[in-house]
Amino acid sequence: MKYKVVYFTRTNKTRRVAEKIAESLSCEVIEVTDDKNWKGPWGYVKAGFYSSTGKDVSIKLNKKLEDYDELIVLSPLWAGKIPPATRMFLKKVPDNKVHLVMTSLGSRLKDRQGYRSVSDIIDHDSNEDEVVSRLLESLA
Ligand SMILES: Cc1cc2nc3c(=O)[nH]c(=O)nc-3n(C[C@H](O)[C@H](O)[C@H](O)COP(=O)(O)O)c2cc1C
Repeated sequence: MKYKVVYFTRTNKTRRVAEKIAESLSCEVIEVTDDKNWKGPWGYVKAGFYSSTGKDVSIKLNKKLEDYDELIVLSPLWAGKIPPATRMFLKKVPDNKVHLVMTSLGSRLKDRQGYRSVSDIIDHDSNEDEVVSRLLESLA
């Protein structure tokens, strides 16, 4: 099975986990970015608003997405939801080819239908190693 890791990040936690997973799978890692500035306190408020109200953004990938069987898509959780950039990316690919990995401080993604799998890396639970190992085992 040919995998690619795709991620969106605001403060780099998700990037670190994405790179770790890509290294274990010896596969390419692709970053999704958007046209907004989410930095600082105002960026935080705007991010929460965009995510909770389902607003769209324009996205770019830093590499071409081609030649894969399944994707590991990593994203932070924003206001209990998938942030706009990740959501826009997910619209372009079939849900049943996506292993979704959400990073968060304390909560889990509620809307989990349709994906190949959904995992939650939750800071308060310190479960990163366990979740990553379980995911990698399920792919093996
Ligand atoms: C706008 C915004 C909303 C967030 N909402 C939640 C939330 O609803 N639940 C939660 O547990 N964490 C929430 N977080 C925390 C992030 O999901 C968490 O810190 C994530 O791991 C950060 O990933 P990153 O460093 O890759 O951006 C939120 C962060 C931001 C910026």
